Amino acid sequence: MGHVRCGLLPVAVALLGLALTGCGPRVADNEQVSPGEKIVLRFSHVVADDTPKGWAARRFAALVHERTGGRVEVQVFPNSTLYKDGEEIDALRAGTVHFIAPTTSKISQMFPEWQLFDLPYAFESVEQVHRAVDGALGERLYRQLEAQGMKALAFWDNGFKQMTNSVRPLVWPGDFRGLKFRVQINSPVLEAQFRALGGEPRPLLFNEVCAALAARTVDGQENTMSNTYSQQFYKVQRYMTVSNHGYMGYVVLTNAGFWESLGPDIRRVLEETIAEVTRLEREKALAMNRRDFEEMKKGNRLAIHLQTDEERASWRRALEPVYREFVARVGPEPLALLEELRRSS
Ligand code: LMR
Repeated sequence: MGHVRCGLLPVAVALLGLALTGCGPRVADNEQVSPGEKIVLRFSHVVADDTPKGWAARRFAALVHERTGGRVEVQVFPNSTLYKDGEEIDALRAGTVHFIAPTTSKISQMFPEWQLFDLPYAFESVEQVHRAVDGALGERLYRQLEAQGMKALAFWDNGFKQMTNSVRPLVWPGDFRGLKFRVQINSPVLEAQFRALGGEPRPLLFNEVCAALAARTVDGQENTMSNTYSQQFYKVQRYMTVSNHGYMGYVVLTNAGFWESLGPDIRRVLEETIAEVTRLEREKALAMNRRDFEEMKKGNRLAIHLQTDEERASWRRALEPVYREFVARVGPEPLALLEELRRSS
């Protein structure tokens, strides 16, 4: 495993410094914006630009600029350069950032029912995920966000997750025994998932994962092809199992108070633009994950195992307790809605 420099390029840090000097137009806060005033909005996220979420944030910014004749400027801060995991929600509530797009997992400390998306094998396809967020389940979950002053503007895909590690091929559940896996912060379901497989979950911020894998303080991680590729995890891991055992997606959030402070014309442009970008993002997510898998195959650094149906069935059996724990923690309602959706598929 050659030497890998995890982290940001110095030039990106320098540009960030310029962006944060506070020079230039006022960054929007919860005060009413007067007509004609230039509005600067910040969009913070933790992944690279060349990923589904990174691409969509940039596209949103470019279209908003074009459609408002430059009156509204969306500044995008990728790669945890403005706020890291765990800081984003507080910043949104404080009004120092206007858009964030955390994974559903990361908001589940505040909104435990959102952990439903982390349940292994909860969804058979991305289409099923979309039907869930656009249906009764989504309605219920979005209402919970509103009760805390947050407004969901969109749901963006990344895709299904794969397992990687540096110790041995993960073929059967027993192969997880004793290995330490990084999990996203705030998700008891993801922790329960690794415990059910015999592994040891270690919650870590996204921007710390590459260095932890390289230093072997954790043995493995689960992620989409796009994150595993763009963060160079594949350079510090030996084995990948293409298991598609769980889904990872994002909820694009804004602060409801701030949102109401914008004029209706601006809100309409932002809403229409994000709806359009969301349609494109979903196609892009599929294509980028496919592309990044091909890139990792070419590199020949990873030993890639394509899971068989029999292996998948044995992982599923091992992971059944995770569902019971979830129901014990959050109650039966969200799972009942998911089961109803599955029956109608
Ligand atoms: C992770 O922490 O692994 C992901 O949530 C990163 C992301 O936002 O895709």
